[in-house]
Amino acid sequence: MAKDYESAFRRSIESPEEFWAEQAEGISWDKPWDTVLDESNPPFYRWFAGARLNTCYNALDRHIEAGRGDQPALYFDSAMTGAKRKYTFSELRDEVALFAGVLSRQGVARGDRVIIYMPMVPEALIAMLACARLGAVHSVVFGGFAARELATRIDDAAPRLVVAGSCGLEPGRIVEYKPLLDEAIEIAANKPGCCIILQRDECRAEMNERDIDWQEALQDATPHDCVSVEATDPLYILYTSGTTGQPKGVVHDNGGHAVALNWTMENVYGVGTGDVFWAASDVGWVVGHSYIVYGPLLRGCTTVMFEGKPVGTPDAGEFWRVIADYGVNVMFTAPTAIRAIRREDPSGELLRHHDLSQYRTQFVAGERCDPETLLWTRELLGVPVLDHWWQTETAWAIAANAAGLTTGEVKAGSAGKAMPGWDVCILDDEGSELPPGGQGAVVCRLPMAPGAFPTLWNADDRFIDSYLNEFPGYYQTGDAGLMDEDGYLYIMSRTDDVINVAGHRLSTGAIEEVLATHTDVAECAVTGIHDELKGQVPMAFLVLKAGVERTEADLVGETVQLVRDKIGPVAAFRKALVVKRLPKTRSGKILRRTLRNLVDGDNYSVPPTIDDPAILQEIEDRLGAA
Ligand code: COA
Ligand code: AMP
Repeated sequence: MAKDYESAFRRSIESPEEFWAEQAEGISWDKPWDTVLDESNPPFYRWFAGARLNTCYNALDRHIEAGRGDQPALYFDSAMTGAKRKYTFSELRDEVALFAGVLSRQGVARGDRVIIYMPMVPEALIAMLACARLGAVHSVVFGGFAARELATRIDDAAPRLVVAGSCGLEPGRIVEYKPLLDEAIEIAANKPGCCIILQRDECRAEMNERDIDWQEALQDATPHDCVSVEATDPLYILYTSGTTGQPKGVVHDNGGHAVALNWTMENVYGVGTGDVFWAASDVGWVVGHSYIVYGPLLRGCTTVMFEGKPVGTPDAGEFWRVIADYGVNVMFTAPTAIRAIRREDPSGELLRHHDLSQYRTQFVAGERCDPETLLWTRELLGVPVLDHWWQTETAWAIAANAAGLTTGEVKAGSAGKAMPGWDVCILDDEGSELPPGGQGAVVCRLPMAPGAFPTLWNADDRFIDSYLNEFPGYYQTGDAGLMDEDGYLYIMSRTDDVINVAGHRLSTGAIEEVLATHTDVAECAVTGIHDELKGQVPMAFLVLKAGVERTEADLVGETVQLVRDKIGPVAAFRKALVVKRLPKTRSGKILRRTLRNLVDGDNYSVPPTIDDPAILQEIEDRLGAA
């Protein structure tokens, strides 16, 4: 039975301390808080100040103590290797405690950082929870990033050690992580003390004097107990794209994070203890942190970890197979994954091979869900398909069509209504609140809800500059959109230079910085262009240095490789256009809005795509005229 949305939302805004203190009863504390919301140092608000807890204890041990040790905590399924593994809560706790012992023996203690660079295998989750058990701060780096990106994160987080897998598996190719890790450590100024390497049979890494084999380290390890930490201590840092090549280290704490995520399981996703929850994402993204690892386990659900793609491994029925095999009740993916399935299997034939009788709700997020994809999925699955909107910074939904709260009918194209704790407004450029239907910057009145980032790692000033300065008193989400008269939010685009590629967030500024290092490039600009599958992909406009005579194909090929090498394949950078000049202001600033408009689908009868030469020609012509 869904709970009343309106009253929950109103209470959370009018009496936030009372509301969240009540939700905090869902968490086991070592010591209660002195104050629910510490407002003594604005704009740095802290939830549950003075309280102590351990997040790993809340995710594992307490369920065992409550008699649920034999319940499955984790199902692992790899479409890439065919491996399947099940861990009960007791088994998972034992593995985590033992690996915490390994980390502790290497000197990792409360507050130390540990970088985790791993593919989608249970050991990634085990390493994360082992850090949480010790009160250490993990920072997971997505496997699709190249050595330089990893090096930037190593330098910023200054980890005591790195935990890595020997390789990741992508369709048709093995991604060797170890050479990338070695190169990153070579580049980085802050060298970690050692690296613990999980050897995968598909490609065993060559070890050097800095490396310790995961399995060997376990041999003489002793299990480590949970270390009590402050609610306000950091649990993890997750780097995300900003406007420059320097990623932002988004920090999430222990107390508010545990309270909020535990609350979302029942209220946003409509799941409870014993339900099976699957987030088809990667532990390298915030979705993986919140809903492969922490949310489901905090709530005592069984979580599913899947290594593979929605299509091609072996076919577009793989998601339905996983849902059926593990009795998944609720699943979460990005619309781009559904578009990929639809493209391969438009009539949903492959679904008919699987029993989805346990399946209740499909959630989507990561990018705007186009109404066509939403309606197709709903028709196919015969269950509610609920879009919700959130960010690395918030760790959970700012707005949602919820399964556990009565948010009402689903309006296609909308991300739903503001969730409790999030006082969302739409502002115009001057900072005035817009009436319903007005499109502007989507902001949230401070303080943000528990679980949201209290700051950026070692960068309080950047936190204020990036998110709080433009509209004092509000958190600027970086998204533009509108709210209708019924309170439904429509998220339309970003207000900054961030683009969303296949549900992955990328900085156009970071790609530009890499392109600018090419010897023939005088200047460049990157913007997102419509892509049928990935929503958007990056598109570069390159101006060559005077006198450079190159064929466009050669040059583009080189720049594509450059971006792959420096940022990683995940940037999905494939197309660049050589142009004579870029549109600029009189003072010489590149007119990014003009560039964005040039590739914006709304300005064409058919949205321009990167593969259409006629459209590219038209863009070039318009650019010439701009
Ligand atoms: N390690 C190494 N390389 C990786 C990687 C990883 N963990 N993840 C992706 N890559 C590589 C891919 O192999 C691909 O390389 P290629 O250019 O050599 O083919 C490139 O990065 C782009 O990857 P991706 O964007 O995943 O494209 P794809 O064509 O392989 O797959 C989709 C397309 C739609 C199936 C895929 O993007 C998808 O499942 N998206 C869902 C995203 C998601 O879960 N987002 C999280 C928010 S919910
Ligand atoms: P990330 O921090 O990588 O999770 O990316 C967050 C960004 O993805 C948001 O700021 C939005 O731009 C976009 N996004 C996420 N979910 C949605 C959604 N449901 N609808 C529209 N945009 C979304």
